[in-house]
Amino acid sequence: MGMKNWMQRKAVGLDSLASHHRLNPTLSWWHLVALGVGAIVGTGIYTLVGVGANLAGPAVTLSFLIAGAICACAALAYAEVATMIPASGSAYTYSYVVLGEIIAWVVGWSLILEYSLVVSAVAVGWSGYAVGFLHSIGLDLPLAMSAGPHAGGLINIPAMLIVAVVAGLLALGTKESATVNAILVLVKIIALLIFVVVALPHFDASHFKPFMPYGFAKHDVDGVQRGVMAAAAIIFFAFYGFDAISTAAEEAKRPGRDLPIGIIGSLAVCTAVYVGVAAVAVGSMSYTVYANSPEPLALILRQLGQGGTAAIIGAAAIIALPTVILAFLYGQSRIFFVMARDGLLPASLAKVNARTGTPIRITALTAVIVAILAGLVPLDQIAALANAGTLVAFMAVATCMLVLRRRAPDEPRLFRSPLPWLVGPGAIIGCAYLFMSLPSQTHHFFLLWNAIGLVLYMVWIGRRSGASAG
Ligand code: ALA
Repeated sequence: MGMKNWMQRKAVGLDSLASHHRLNPTLSWWHLVALGVGAIVGTGIYTLVGVGANLAGPAVTLSFLIAGAICACAALAYAEVATMIPASGSAYTYSYVVLGEIIAWVVGWSLILEYSLVVSAVAVGWSGYAVGFLHSIGLDLPLAMSAGPHAGGLINIPAMLIVAVVAGLLALGTKESATVNAILVLVKIIALLIFVVVALPHFDASHFKPFMPYGFAKHDVDGVQRGVMAAAAIIFFAFYGFDAISTAAEEAKRPGRDLPIGIIGSLAVCTAVYVGVAAVAVGSMSYTVYANSPEPLALILRQLGQGGTAAIIGAAAIIALPTVILAFLYGQSRIFFVMARDGLLPASLAKVNARTGTPIRITALTAVIVAILAGLVPLDQIAALANAGTLVAFMAVATCMLVLRRRAPDEPRLFRSPLPWLVGPGAIIGCAYLFMSLPSQTHHFFLLWNAIGLVLYMVWIGRRSGASAG
């Protein structure tokens, strides 16, 4: 295995792709905004607001602002780089073009963690609302079958089922239908707005006191790592998904205009809604009531005597959250597809079924693994690990933006981030701080995951150069 191999950079973006490997440009800017909001609004705002409140108290609102600001920097970097390299594969492809193969591998391997674990996490969040909704109409599932061992159950069957259903749809060739996606996006957003309107009259500023009971930086409180930053590192989960738009870059009709609008627009819409939901949730009652609830928004409304509205919010979550699962499971098949197209994964693994246009084998394999995780592992742990993968990808994209500004300052840019030397380092340092604020256990798992990845890479690249030499 030569040094040359793992330092090599991918020559160009699209020009180097044979036309039969190109995807059809069919998406306009509003498709992309809807795609972004569809992938962003999910378990993060519907469920993790409770987990975050448990870690930061009322200052979870500050955690939202911090995570949102860091994501805004990352989104600007994504918009600039995605329009310079409008090829599928997102952060993985940009890293391959700008930073070289081995970094691209680490980023691709991290994206696999992001995309697959988001699926598990959203499935667990979905299950929380589904079980709560069934309970409200008098159907009680036994705890053993509706929660993992950490919550007194055995296995979370509804979470596993929803993964199976969405994977089945994907395997049958279901694409993100623009119209269905747009309707479900409206359902999700309207449900959150209803929450704000119904809970707002109960707003009482005294619920914000004491504001920061667990301090700012991550630290140990009774065996749990808490603080505003510990919560921000989890809440970060709620904000991403705009990066999934860039996996569809090859399909944008006018990438130069539409990608920035899609990426920045979808994040802006979601941030505005989230800050409203978090502030109203915290102001409506003591955070201890809903901290760690599997369906905090519905619980808050029930506590406020709004059982009917709680059922509406629950129903909206049940109907609309599976789109997040679909978007990420589909995005992951894209990452696999592009990595295999580059020769970094065995082509057989990412083989696309001619009839459905999806890599069935890898989708099925991923679905089985993420379903098992969703059945057994607590939501906050899954989300934390998904965040670790995403944070690495975000840091890589911001680095790509800065490197390109230095290496190719005069290259035309369809979108230029304002203040790149503030935005780029803001994204890199901010993401690094969020990464450090994740639970230590997550750091260990993440290192293990990347160690496994690098061993596989060495084996694979050794075989590949052996084959090309022979
Ligand atoms: N941002 C997505 C969610 O909250 C991953 O579910």
